[in-house]
Amino acid sequence: MSDRVYVTEVGPRDGLQNENLIIPTPVKLAFIHGLVDAGIEQIELTSFVHPRWVPTMADAEEIFGALERKPGVRYLALVPNVRGYERARSAGCDAVALFTAASEAFTRKNINMTIAESLEIFAAVAKRAHADGVAVRGYVSTVYACPFAGKIEPEAVAEVVQCLFDLGCYEVSLGDTIGVATPAEVRRVVDVLGKRFPLDKLVMHFHDTWGMAVANVAQSVELGMRRFDSSAGGLGGCPYARSATGNVATEDLLYLLQHLGYDTGVDIDQVVAAAEGLARHLAHPLPSRVHKAWKGRVI
Ligand code: HMG
Ligand code: MG
Repeated sequence: MSDRVYVTEVGPRDGLQNENLIIPTPVKLAFIHGLVDAGIEQIELTSFVHPRWVPTMADAEEIFGALERKPGVRYLALVPNVRGYERARSAGCDAVALFTAASEAFTRKNINMTIAESLEIFAAVAKRAHADGVAVRGYVSTVYACPFAGKIEPEAVAEVVQCLFDLGCYEVSLGDTIGVATPAEVRRVVDVLGKRFPLDKLVMHFHDTWGMAVANVAQSVELGMRRFDSSAGGLGGCPYARSATGNVATEDLLYLLQHLGYDTGVDIDQVVAAAEGLARHLAHPLPSRVHKAWKGRVI
């Protein structure tokens, strides 16, 4: 089994969408460019959602307009519907992420649709995207539990994952939206999904509400998962799932993987520096434990 692990940086989108302060666009861009310089090859920059629903992402057009692209890097944007797709295309985006959930209640709160409606809308987006040569990634949220409906069964997740693959998604990210997963539940999810889909097309997206995210990553790599989403500094959360906190920090993920002997191609020093530049504009410290430890390290 390969020792290469692929990290998708979601800090500029998932990390910043939940901040109370509006971060200036040039600060976001410096964060993005710093992360790509660190070796990140897939990064989610922003979302073309309704600015009334998520005001911190209102500068999505400006982000793409001022982006300095590096060859070989995939720059994603989250889009919730055809209007979002059209905005993303006009801004020069060539890779989009569609997002739905395994829970009806969460899908309604988050994007004001049923799961079936979201899939119908995404079918239209995916058709346009494929015709335009735009890469399409998928997300399923509330994989382990929903903040409104409680526990979610992996079989229900598998049904939605199948629909996203049927739409032509090149990979599907499995969101532990409210950060409640534990390694035992990770084993169950990987067991059920692994019987239906190649593990190489599934991505783990852990939030760290209960402090289990790093343990969940360790369990996932052990089970053969090689793709992870993370957020530099450990920022993150979903405005429509109040119990959610930050994503697993990119620094924490890299530190773990490096010490387990995996190759990520990403430099921790540079990720720490990029997150540090952003932290000066936040009203609170970064949640990442490795971030703090790294700056004061003696070994
Ligand atoms: P709605 O109010 O039902 O929209 O919102 P609508 O279709 O009824 O349209 C109402 C108005 O909004 C119309 O304008 C549309 O043109 C406009 P009007 O005719 O009234 O002038 N509109 C838009 N404007 C700009 N951009 C758009 C857009 N779409 C419609 N894309 C909508 C539906 C999906 C837009 C809304 O619910 C929304 O924006 N939701 C986004 C929620 C969100 O961003 N959540 C966080 C991301 S998901 C997440 O964090 C989880 C994840 O990390 C994985 C995990 O952790 O589980 C991915
Ligand atoms: Mg998330």
